[in-house]
Amino acid sequence: MFGVTGDLARKKLLPAVYDLANRGLLPKGFSLVGYGRRNWTHQQFAEEVEAHVRAGTRTGFDEDTWSKLRRGLRFVSADGFDDDAAFQRLGETLDELKEQRGTEGNHAFYLSIPPKSFESVCEKLSSHGLARKTRDPQDPWSRVIIEKPFGHDEESAHELNLAVEKVFHSDCVFRIDHYLGKETVQNLLALRFANRMFEPLWNNQHVDHVQITMAENFGIGGRASYYDGVGATRDVIQNHLLQLLALTAMEEPISFDADHLRREKEKALEAVKVPEDLSAASARGQYTSGEVHGQQITGFLEEEGFDPNSTTETFAALKLNVHTRRWAGVPFYLRSGKCLGRRVTEIAVTFKRAPNLLFTETDETEFGRNALIIRIQPNEGATLRLTSKVPGTTMEVRDVDMDFSYGRSFTEQSPEAYERLILDVLRGEPPLFPRHREVELSWQIVDPFIKQWETMSEQPEPYEPGTWGPDSAHALIGRDGRDWRVPE
Ligand code: BG6
Repeated sequence: MFGVTGDLARKKLLPAVYDLANRGLLPKGFSLVGYGRRNWTHQQFAEEVEAHVRAGTRTGFDEDTWSKLRRGLRFVSADGFDDDAAFQRLGETLDELKEQRGTEGNHAFYLSIPPKSFESVCEKLSSHGLARKTRDPQDPWSRVIIEKPFGHDEESAHELNLAVEKVFHSDCVFRIDHYLGKETVQNLLALRFANRMFEPLWNNQHVDHVQITMAENFGIGGRASYYDGVGATRDVIQNHLLQLLALTAMEEPISFDADHLRREKEKALEAVKVPEDLSAASARGQYTSGEVHGQQITGFLEEEGFDPNSTTETFAALKLNVHTRRWAGVPFYLRSGKCLGRRVTEIAVTFKRAPNLLFTETDETEFGRNALIIRIQPNEGATLRLTSKVPGTTMEVRDVDMDFSYGRSFTEQSPEAYERLILDVLRGEPPLFPRHREVELSWQIVDPFIKQWETMSEQPEPYEPGTWGPDSAHALIGRDGRDWRVPE
């Protein structure tokens, strides 16, 4: 694991590896080698890992599991990602593990590092004979896991891919979009294709529009150096939100094989048309200082070491159209932001209103707008909004909710997204990992918006923390006579 001392590894990856061990899902001989700039011994590394595992485990700390996992922990101290001597030691460590633990020489290299270092690490892995471009089942496997962002636009994503695929076979490149590891995101496939009732309605005859929201109620905190110059569109819309759009809009795949599933998602992304008037179809904002739930928030531009003229957006909203027979005329509104009213990710499929011929006592604007709200997180589940008679002597109707919640319906615990994804890499199961084509198509969708913003001299519109974003976001959807949902 490269970047083993980073935030993601500490908070997510190391606890996920431990939880897999605790669930008995790791292969025999599993070993973990950390590569980093610290001057640690194996023993010190194990102590560090233990502290993060104890803090982050979801399955509970078990001494027995830990002592078994610990036997396979090693650390390679390096001067950087191009340190030949360190790669030499990494090779020796991997050989020892093969002998001592029976890893059979199967390796997955996890690059939890800035993309600018991908090329150098891949090149060193190759020149030191650690990575092999093979998928022959007779050979030990050689896989690479790369974390987003995959570049900062289509062109750089393309370059990055060339560098990675020079060293690893394309089938052995696992691009992590952790949203695809989430149980509720996979459930979109079950909801759509295991039920009969939604499919006949899942089209422009019945659907008015779709809203995809990913809101966070905290700021960028310690991630300022990563976030500046990236912004909400590159950070989460290009990947997580467009994956949600693809899963919502795609046709039924003929199987859940990686090739079939990815092909349908790619077709959906390929059908996304960027509106001609990019300004009218987008909004962006930056949160100011303020208070949320009694907590003082430092404004984005006031974060330490920040350029007060930064044009990086902490909120973005886009309106997109999917040009297929199924979706023509149905706008997909996407929005994401930091420091908003609540932490919530959801997909709301809003249906057209029923003609109100009978319920004259109910105001037209109040009248039945059915919606299916898929709650990705928190409070995972789905809500079906229906119209129902208000108890009493008149025929007044009102919207009510029918609710499915994971917590109430299942006793099984959902694995953390990273657990599922790491396990899939070890098993060589690629369906939940976007192919390079998907990444490029997603950049093709967001690049024109980002380029247009770059030509504008003004900064993104300020919004107060705890609200639902800048006024321009409300105006964007308001121009179509619609409102953003306020997630409950
Ligand atoms: C990451 C983004 O991909 O997803 C972060 O880089 C964001 O900015 C995070 O906070 C949110 O993940 P989750 O699983 O908490 O919704």
